[in-house]
Amino acid sequence: MSNASLEATVDPAQVQGWITTLGKEPSAAVPLLQAVQRAFGYLPRKAMDLIVENTDINASQLFGVATFYAQFRLDPVGRNLIKVCHGTACHVQGADRLNTSLRHVLGITDESEDTASNGSYTVEDVACIGCCSLAPVMLIGEQAFPNLKGADAQRHLVKHAKTVSEILPGKDGGENPKSKENKS
Ligand code: FES
Repeated sequence: MSNASLEATVDPAQVQGWITTLGKEPSAAVPLLQAVQRAFGYLPRKAMDLIVENTDINASQLFGVATFYAQFRLDPVGRNLIKVCHGTACHVQGADRLNTSLRHVLGITDESEDTASNGSYTVEDVACIGCCSLAPVMLIGEQAFPNLKGADAQRHLVKHAKTVSEILPGKDGGENPKSKENKS
Protein backbone atom coordinates (compact mmCIF):
# COMPACT_ATOMS: atom_id res chain seq x y z
CA MET A 1 0.00 0.00 0.00
CA SER A 2 1.47 3.38 -0.89
CA ASN A 3 1.12 6.74 0.83
CA ALA A 4 -0.74 8.91 -1.72
CA SER A 5 0.71 12.13 -0.27
CA LEU A 6 4.21 10.96 -1.26
CA GLU A 7 3.33 10.40 -4.94
CA ALA A 8 5.65 12.21 -7.35
CA THR A 9 4.45 14.79 -9.87
CA VAL A 10 5.11 13.43 -13.36
CA ASP A 11 5.77 15.71 -16.33
CA PRO A 12 4.37 14.00 -19.48
CA ALA A 13 6.96 15.77 -21.63
CA GLN A 14 9.76 14.17 -19.64
CA VAL A 15 8.28 10.70 -20.14
CA GLN A 16 7.79 11.41 -23.85
CA GLY A 17 11.44 12.43 -24.04
CA TRP A 18 12.54 9.04 -22.68
CA ILE A 19 10.26 7.27 -25.17
CA THR A 20 11.74 9.27 -28.05
CA THR A 21 15.26 8.41 -26.93
CA LEU A 22 14.79 4.79 -25.85
CA GLY A 23 12.11 3.56 -28.27
CA LYS A 24 8.52 2.33 -28.35
CA GLU A 25 9.10 -1.39 -28.80
CA PRO A 26 8.53 -3.95 -26.03
CA SER A 27 12.33 -4.35 -25.83
CA ALA A 28 12.49 -0.76 -24.52
CA ALA A 29 10.46 -1.64 -21.42
CA VAL A 30 13.43 -2.17 -19.09
CA PRO A 31 15.38 0.96 -20.14
CA LEU A 32 12.21 3.06 -19.92
CA LEU A 33 11.41 1.80 -16.44
CA GLN A 34 15.03 2.38 -15.41
CA ALA A 35 14.79 5.98 -16.62
CA VAL A 36 11.59 6.52 -14.66
CA GLN A 37 13.02 4.98 -11.51
CA ARG A 38 16.24 7.02 -11.77
CA ALA A 39 14.15 10.19 -11.94
CA PHE A 40 11.63 9.44 -9.18
CA GLY A 41 13.19 6.70 -7.06
CA TYR A 42 10.22 4.46 -7.91
CA LEU A 43 7.70 3.89 -10.71
CA PRO A 44 4.80 6.36 -10.40
CA ARG A 45 1.53 5.03 -11.80
CA LYS A 46 1.14 8.14 -13.96
CA ALA A 47 4.49 7.50 -15.69
CA MET A 48 3.57 3.85 -16.27
CA ASP A 49 0.25 4.89 -17.85
CA LEU A 50 2.00 7.38 -20.14
CA ILE A 51 4.40 4.70 -21.35
CA VAL A 52 1.51 2.32 -22.10
CA GLU A 53 -0.42 5.07 -23.93
CA ASN A 54 2.52 6.19 -26.07
CA THR A 55 4.38 2.99 -26.93
CA ASP A 56 3.77 -0.50 -28.30
CA ILE A 57 4.21 -1.89 -24.79
CA ASN A 58 0.91 -2.99 -23.29
CA ALA A 59 0.04 -2.70 -19.60
CA SER A 60 0.53 -6.36 -18.76
CA GLN A 61 3.96 -6.40 -20.42
CA LEU A 62 5.06 -3.27 -18.59
CA PHE A 63 3.73 -4.28 -15.16
CA GLY A 64 5.11 -7.78 -15.72
CA VAL A 65 8.61 -6.34 -16.15
CA ALA A 66 8.17 -3.89 -13.26
CA THR A 67 7.19 -6.63 -10.83
CA PHE A 68 9.67 -9.25 -12.12
CA TYR A 69 12.87 -7.32 -11.42
CA ALA A 70 13.79 -6.55 -7.80
CA GLN A 71 15.44 -3.28 -8.93
CA PHE A 72 12.03 -1.68 -9.51
CA ARG A 73 9.67 -0.38 -6.83
CA LEU A 74 6.05 0.60 -7.30
CA ASP A 75 5.69 2.66 -4.12
CA PRO A 76 7.11 6.13 -3.40
CA VAL A 77 10.47 6.22 -1.70
CA GLY A 78 11.44 8.49 1.19
CA ARG A 79 13.89 11.38 0.93
CA ASN A 80 16.49 9.16 2.65
CA LEU A 81 16.97 5.46 2.03
CA ILE A 82 18.02 2.98 4.70
CA LYS A 83 19.10 -0.42 3.39
CA VAL A 84 19.12 -3.21 5.95
CA CYS A 85 21.13 -6.22 4.79
CA HIS A 86 19.21 -9.48 5.03
CA GLY A 87 21.90 -11.72 3.57
CA THR A 88 22.58 -14.93 5.50
CA ALA A 89 25.25 -13.54 7.85
CA CYS A 90 23.20 -10.46 8.73
CA HIS A 91 20.00 -12.47 9.06
CA VAL A 92 21.66 -14.84 11.53
CA GLN A 93 23.07 -11.88 13.49
CA GLY A 94 19.66 -10.25 13.95
CA ALA A 95 18.85 -8.13 10.90
CA ASP A 96 15.14 -8.51 11.71
CA ARG A 97 15.69 -6.71 15.02
CA LEU A 98 17.25 -3.80 13.15
CA ASN A 99 14.13 -3.48 11.02
CA THR A 100 11.89 -3.57 14.08
CA SER A 101 13.95 -0.90 15.87
CA LEU A 102 14.13 1.41 12.86
CA ARG A 103 10.43 1.11 12.06
CA HIS A 104 9.65 1.94 15.69
CA VAL A 105 11.53 5.25 15.48
CA LEU A 106 10.00 5.98 12.09
CA GLY A 107 6.47 5.23 13.27
CA ILE A 108 5.88 2.61 10.56
CA THR A 109 3.32 0.25 12.05
CA ASP A 110 1.66 -1.13 8.91
CA GLU A 111 3.62 -4.19 7.76
CA SER A 112 2.84 -3.42 4.14
CA GLU A 113 4.56 0.01 4.42
CA ASP A 114 8.28 0.71 4.36
CA THR A 115 8.25 4.54 4.34
CA ALA A 116 7.63 6.96 7.21
CA SER A 117 4.37 8.90 6.91
CA ASN A 118 6.23 12.21 6.49
CA GLY A 119 8.37 10.83 3.64
CA SER A 120 11.59 11.22 5.62
CA TYR A 121 12.98 7.68 5.38
CA THR A 122 12.33 4.39 3.63
CA VAL A 123 13.61 1.15 5.16
CA GLU A 124 14.42 -1.37 2.46
CA ASP A 125 15.58 -4.97 2.87
CA VAL A 126 18.49 -5.84 0.59
CA ALA A 127 20.58 -8.90 -0.19
CA CYS A 128 24.23 -9.24 0.94
CA ILE A 129 26.15 -6.00 0.50
CA GLY A 130 29.54 -7.69 0.68
CA CYS A 131 30.87 -7.05 4.19
CA CYS A 132 29.59 -10.13 6.00
CA SER A 133 32.32 -10.09 8.68
CA LEU A 134 30.72 -6.86 9.95
CA ALA A 135 27.19 -8.30 10.21
CA PRO A 136 24.59 -7.12 10.85
CA VAL A 137 25.00 -4.09 8.62
CA MET A 138 22.81 -1.25 7.37
CA LEU A 139 23.39 1.62 4.98
CA ILE A 140 21.93 5.09 5.39
CA GLY A 141 22.49 6.62 2.01
CA GLU A 142 26.02 5.54 1.09
CA GLN A 143 27.30 5.22 4.65
CA ALA A 144 27.62 1.74 6.14
CA PHE A 145 27.04 1.01 9.85
CA PRO A 146 28.49 -2.34 11.01
CA ASN A 147 27.99 -4.71 13.97
CA LEU A 148 24.64 -3.24 14.93
CA LYS A 149 22.20 -3.97 17.68
CA GLY A 150 18.72 -2.48 17.45
CA ALA A 151 19.60 0.40 19.79
CA ASP A 152 22.69 1.22 17.69
CA ALA A 153 20.57 1.39 14.54
CA GLN A 154 18.15 3.78 16.26
CA ARG A 155 21.00 5.94 17.54
CA HIS A 156 22.57 6.23 14.08
CA LEU A 157 19.18 7.05 12.57
CA VAL A 158 18.44 9.77 15.13
CA LYS A 159 21.90 11.26 14.55
CA HIS A 160 21.44 11.17 10.78
CA ALA A 161 18.02 12.82 11.08
CA LYS A 162 19.55 15.66 13.07
CA THR A 163 22.25 16.09 10.43
CA VAL A 164 19.80 16.32 7.53
CA SER A 165 17.06 18.11 9.53
CA GLU A 166 14.46 15.38 9.20
CA ILE A 167 11.69 14.80 11.73
CA LEU A 168 11.27 11.22 12.93
CA PRO A 169 7.55 10.60 13.38
CA GLY A 170 7.75 7.49 15.58
CA LYS A 171 8.27 6.85 19.25
CA ASP A 172 11.70 8.06 20.47
CA GLY A 173 11.96 10.24 17.40
CA GLY A 174 11.51 13.12 19.83
CA GLU A 175 15.27 13.20 20.26
CA ASN A 176 15.22 15.18 17.05
CA PRO A 177 15.26 18.87 18.01
CA LYS A 178 12.65 19.68 15.36
CA SER A 179 10.31 17.13 16.91
CA LYS A 180 10.76 18.79 20.30
CA GLU A 181 9.99 22.15 18.78
CA ASN A 182 6.80 20.79 17.31
CA LYS A 183 5.70 19.33 20.64
CA SER A 184 6.22 22.54 22.59
S1 FES B 1 25.08 -10.93 4.63
FE1 FES B 1 25.03 -8.86 5.21
S2 FES B 1 26.85 -8.07 4.38
FE2 FES B 1 26.83 -10.12 3.69
